[in-house]
Amino acid sequence: MAIRKIREIGDSCLKKKCREVEKFDSKLHDLLDDMQDTMLLANGVGLAAPQVGILRRVVVIDLGEEDGILELVNPVIIHTEGSVTDTEGCLSVPGKAGEVTRPKKATVRAFDRDGNEFEFTGEDLYARCICHECDHLDGILYVEKADSVFELSKEE
Ligand code: NI
Repeated sequence: MAIRKIREIGDSCLKKKCREVEKFDSKLHDLLDDMQDTMLLANGVGLAAPQVGILRRVVVIDLGEEDGILELVNPVIIHTEGSVTDTEGCLSVPGKAGEVTRPKKATVRAFDRDGNEFEFTGEDLYARCICHECDHLDGILYVEKADSVFELSKEE
């Protein structure tokens, strides 16, 4: 496993529409392992492959100590409910946060690292995270959707 460099706003990788994963092979497993390490080291809740310069539809989300890491390959949001406006940030937009309106609940259909299809429903933070990370796969950063974006002070 290895830590990969996180691309920051202005990098062309973050503007591209990513391609679907076709092979569920060791290269994909290495990418997922590296993305997990990179996200955890950076204290992120989620990370999408284009953020480490890989233009494929791959996402990892940290569901917390009990539930571990959610891996989404070729995710598609199939259902959303409600709407909540709250603060979010992005590892690719360091030092900033913004107010973004997202669904309260989001169900995603995806594949695991071995190519098995499954569905996952996230609420609140995890619904927000699923939508934020899936946007990355289409080259969209939250700052394009935010009502407002502000600088974080050092203490935050
Ligand atoms: Ni992000």
